[in-house]
This record gives sequence, C-alpha cells and structure tokens, in this order.
Amino acid sequence: MSNWKDETIQANPKEKAEELKKVMSVVAPELHTFIEEHAELDQWMDRVRAENNRALYREALQIIQQELEQHFLYEEQFILPKLGRYFATTEVGPVFKLIQEHDIIRKNYRDAEDLMQESDSERFAEVLQQKMNLLAYLLKKHIEKEDHYFFPLVSLVLTPAECQEIADQVAHAHHA
Ligand SMILES: [Fe+2]
Ligand SMILES: [Fe+2]
Repeated sequence: MSNWKDETIQANPKEKAEELKKVMSVVAPELHTFIEEHAELDQWMDRVRAENNRALYREALQIIQQELEQHFLYEEQFILPKLGRYFATTEVGPVFKLIQEHDIIRKNYRDAEDLMQESDSERFAEVLQQKMNLLAYLLKKHIEKEDHYFFPLVSLVLTPAECQEIADQVAHAHHA
C-alpha cells in the first residue's frame, strides 16, 4: 500500500527553497528556528517515502524521536499557553487540534518503533514500510499546516515580546 504518497505535497528542491523563503517572510523572525526544523524533517520524510530501506527508517525514527522530545514539546510548552490566552476555551480550535495532531503522530511513531523492534524478519517488512509511509505523510501534512497556517497566524496574534519570550525559552531549554 503506497497510496500515502500524495504527490500534491511533493516539490523539487528549488521550489521548496523558494517556498521556504516566502514562508519565513510571513513568520515572526523569533520563530524561524521552528520553520527551519520543519524543512529539515520534511526532507527526511521525503527520503522515507522514496526509499524502502531499513537503515534509513532507523535513522529517520531517531530524528523523529528527537523532534518529539524537543520541537513538539517546545510548541506545546512555550507557544500554546501564550496562544491559549487569546481564546475563550482551548477545548476546540488551534490549541486543541495541534495537541491532537501531535498525539496522533506520537502514537504512530511508537507503533513504528514497535514494528522496528519486532520485525527483523522479512514478514513484517511491508507492514513497516506502510507504517513509515503513514508516519511520513502525517508529519509532512502537519508541517505544511504549521508553516502555512499556524505559525503565520501565531506571528500575527502574539506580541513581539511574546515571540521573543518563546525564542528565549527555546534557547534556555537547549542549554538546560
Ligand atoms: Fe512544528
Ligand atoms: Fe507541531
């Protein structure tokens, strides 16, 4: 089953670089590190979708794990509480949906890790490939949403001081 390869979210490197520059122009400079990390992860996910290769899958899962432990957490801990203040409730809307997507990605990551542990035999190779392609698809869609909706809108809603505080919190967390 390779129908997770949605060609509409594939682009050549030059187009991608152009798009990245434009996205940066609508995102607060203090938040650019998030967009840069998206671009890097997006490239990894393109490789996952292009190659059925166990060593690559293993490396990609390590990269994803690191993203889950840092990037995802930073969004949840440093951005969402600030954004949440502007809404009457966070039981629906962008804060709720972003956490929900993160949780779905975390679950699929854990499934992929489990399959990787279990599946040294060829029997599981196809199941693993499907799971990795699903994970790559989910991550690419999530990144696309954050680049084109979430971060541009966060940049409009939050004050420059709030954006700076996020950058400071990320820098601090990196050195903790
Ligand atoms: Fe993100
Ligand atoms: Fe995210």
